[in-house]
Amino acid sequence: MTINSFIKPADRIASFKPYYFATLAKKISKLQENGLDIIKIDMGSPDLPPEKFIIDQLTASAALPNKHGYTPMGGTPEFRKAIAYYYEKRFGVKLDPNSETVGLIGSKEGLFNMTQVLVNPGDYVIVPDPGYPVYSASTKIAGGKIYSIPLLKKNGFLPDLSSIPQDILQQTKVFWINYPNNPTGAIAPFSFFEEIVAFAKENQIIIAHDAPYVDVCFDDYIAPSLLQVEGAKEVAVEFNSLSKAYNMAGWRLGMAVGNANIIGYIHTYKSQMDSSQFAPVIDAGITAITGDQTWLKARNAIYQNRRDIVVSGLKEAGFEVDTPPAAIYIWARLPEGYEDSMSFCNDLLEATGVSTTPGVVYGQYGEGYLRVSLGTKTERIQEAMDRIKHWIKAK
Ligand SMILES: Cc1ncc(COP(=O)(O)O)c(C=O)c1O
Repeated sequence: MTINSFIKPADRIASFKPYYFATLAKKISKLQENGLDIIKIDMGSPDLPPEKFIIDQLTASAALPNKHGYTPMGGTPEFRKAIAYYYEKRFGVKLDPNSETVGLIGSKEGLFNMTQVLVNPGDYVIVPDPGYPVYSASTKIAGGKIYSIPLLKKNGFLPDLSSIPQDILQQTKVFWINYPNNPTGAIAPFSFFEEIVAFAKENQIIIAHDAPYVDVCFDDYIAPSLLQVEGAKEVAVEFNSLSKAYNMAGWRLGMAVGNANIIGYIHTYKSQMDSSQFAPVIDAGITAITGDQTWLKARNAIYQNRRDIVVSGLKEAGFEVDTPPAAIYIWARLPEGYEDSMSFCNDLLEATGVSTTPGVVYGQYGEGYLRVSLGTKTERIQEAMDRIKHWIKAK
């Protein structure tokens, strides 16, 4: 191999590590080659497909001759109208499709790019800990500074707004929140949304609400949108996604809605960055968000059953677990005597083939926890719980 010493990464990515799940996938492949039967309850990728009428729309559109060229950047006008329709119908929130919506290639892309369009080097970004890693990764790339705010069980996994020092607030540009929450499964009462919108106005900061789990709710819970708060659009943008809501994670369809200035910056940035999506995917997305929604109830019931299996399985194994009202994760405190989540999950994987996510991947306040995803067949989840129970008991 020739070593070209001039080939070096840019400073902004020099200290970057691969995304945790990319590294895990390599490890899992090796274990599988050695014959271990792996049960993946790590990543939040739904195992179930979207409803048939959505797939039918994809194939019908793909069969048309005029659906193979470039599509408008930031989503077709029809997709953006459909986003506005969905927001009005689901949340009673009125949006102007032209100025207050943008289509995304999955919401992860939008989360990352929003930071790029707003954050200058030296600006603070408040990120929840534990939290989805993209909030911090995108801040680092933009040269921003991270202020991690702990999400503690004693506060219902909500950030304590009064704990943020005044001098940090003065330098803060963006504050990330995410409810229903990954990884904790916590939900936010509407009063918290009202509180944070008022806080943002008072301190002149932008609230970015990452909300891909609003349509995965259990029992009688219905998750609200941050934009339901009066005047939220003055300071907030919300990200939503078809990945979990409609079992369409691989399709890469998402949206950002809210403050027209921010949405405008994202449109401009994206017009230089990407060339949107395949028209049949967008057409099927329109069908998903404007069509029959009743199938989501049956889908959520499947997750709810899995949730109950995991909660009782982990409790029996000695974990401390709350029953989440939404999202597709169980956030479990390791049994007594265990603290290091990375080695716990590694040992568990190697000994039993059950792959979970160590809590520390989501930040220092995730240490001592592990996360189980519900996006795997019910029998395999049951099998995973049995393996975990036996392993812990035999230790
Ligand atoms: C909190 C959170 N935000 C955003 C995403 C990204 O979703 P997507 O890019 O598939 O829309 C995920 C995916 O797991 C997530 O958990």
